[in-house]
Amino acid sequence: MPEFDLAIRGGTVVTASDTVRADVGVRGGRIVAVAEGIADAARVIDASGLLVLPGGIDSHVHIAQDPGPGIVMADDFASATQAAAAGGNTCVMPFAVQPRGGSLRGAVDAYRAKAEGQCHVDVAIHMIISDPSEAVLGQELPALVADGYTSFKVFMTYDDLVLNDRQLLDVFHVARREGARVMVHAEGYDAIRYLSDRLERAGETRPYGHALSRPEVVEREAAHRAISHAELIDLPIVIVHVSGREATEQIAWAQARGLKIRAETCPQYLTLTAEHMKGLGLDDPMAGAKYVCSPPPRDAESQEAVWSGIRRGIFDVVSSDHSPFRYDDPQGKLNPRGKTSFRWIPNGIPGIETRLPVFFSEGVSKGRISLNQFAALTATNHAKMYGLYPRKGSIAPGFDADLTLWDPNKRETIRQEILHHGSDYTPWEGFDVTGWPVMTIAGGQVIAEDSRVLSEPGRGRVLDRAVDPAERRGG
Ligand code: URP
Ligand code: ZN
Ligand code: ZN
Repeated sequence: MPEFDLAIRGGTVVTASDTVRADVGVRGGRIVAVAEGIADAARVIDASGLLVLPGGIDSHVHIAQDPGPGIVMADDFASATQAAAAGGNTCVMPFAVQPRGGSLRGAVDAYRAKAEGQCHVDVAIHMIISDPSEAVLGQELPALVADGYTSFKVFMTYDDLVLNDRQLLDVFHVARREGARVMVHAEGYDAIRYLSDRLERAGETRPYGHALSRPEVVEREAAHRAISHAELIDLPIVIVHVSGREATEQIAWAQARGLKIRAETCPQYLTLTAEHMKGLGLDDPMAGAKYVCSPPPRDAESQEAVWSGIRRGIFDVVSSDHSPFRYDDPQGKLNPRGKTSFRWIPNGIPGIETRLPVFFSEGVSKGRISLNQFAALTATNHAKMYGLYPRKGSIAPGFDADLTLWDPNKRETIRQEILHHGSDYTPWEGFDVTGWPVMTIAGGQVIAEDSRVLSEPGRGRVLDRAVDPAERRGG
């Protein structure tokens, strides 16, 4: 019997702290050795010239959510997780959404049932709380946190999700007591409605109106309000999908005061701008809808501010905020109401498969960040922030054998035809990258190679997590 099931030989192992030439030995789906000269294995993979990275963890993706009447999300669990695997990811974290007036437990159970048996990569489920009733705050949420659903997102905008300030404070209070991790979508609801009404009255209904209805000040104000609420409750929160200079400044200010504010950004805020929402060609005035997401991408100056925040350690994670809709589809971006006003264009863009190559190319290949920062921002910090560490997120004995073999020199042009998601477009069509995932290994199994997915749906598990007892504050 060989000592190892799998040996990955001759690569450069990259973690959040180290870059070393070493082999990786795998047994029973776990890493059991990181050392030189590992050879006695049932299967040997030659990783010469390649980086061995922790498998990507994407802690903010939307899969198979119900966006409301007449609109359908473009990915189910099978298609989203196969795209994730091809893009170098081994774990993703989507959201079970509580419907207003409905049960949070019911939403979580139904969502988990949808995921079971369908996933190519492991999945850990966050919750979205849209209706913090007495039953939710008193019973459902504490019980769900105890059952391993240890994180949730709250929204400061969207008609069917927005929480008012009192509700945010009540939810934060319960999160602190139970030790749950809270993600905050920081955009101000009333300001967006006011601006949207005025834009529509002035006849500005194009997709670009979306950017005008959600300027940076709207995100800055909400970020500051969320930070203040978190300070009152003494709760660490994560401000997600931070889009530009103004919100980054608020977070930097809060962190400098010693507040426990964490932050996430996404490749769209580093590479796209509001100009994309003006459309790519005069022949298709709706093309800008392909880029409609919230918050909207900003401008070159904001991109630089976010890069600077990444380099200064203000950001903990880079996620995709994958929220896929088809473009040329009456149930997607071109739904009949969406053609009448930007207000009805489903928000979100696909990005689960392109997050790592776009961020690697713009970050590492262009010399903006180190390899170790890349590992931290795309895997390790996600695992640490959301209760998956030390099972996932690094390369050391005891961790799941979730690894991405990465060719740092491979050049590729991103095109819809090479991707595996359910959308009919990518916002990064024609985008040239240097650096590409050539093999994704999950639990010691090769699940994708050279953009071909080799696993079957159902290989990935739905994971339970546990809160760190130090985060539970009682009271
Ligand atoms: O536009 C976006 N980001 N849609 C997904 C939902 C959210 O707010 O993250
Ligand atoms: Zn959001
Ligand atoms: Zn999102």
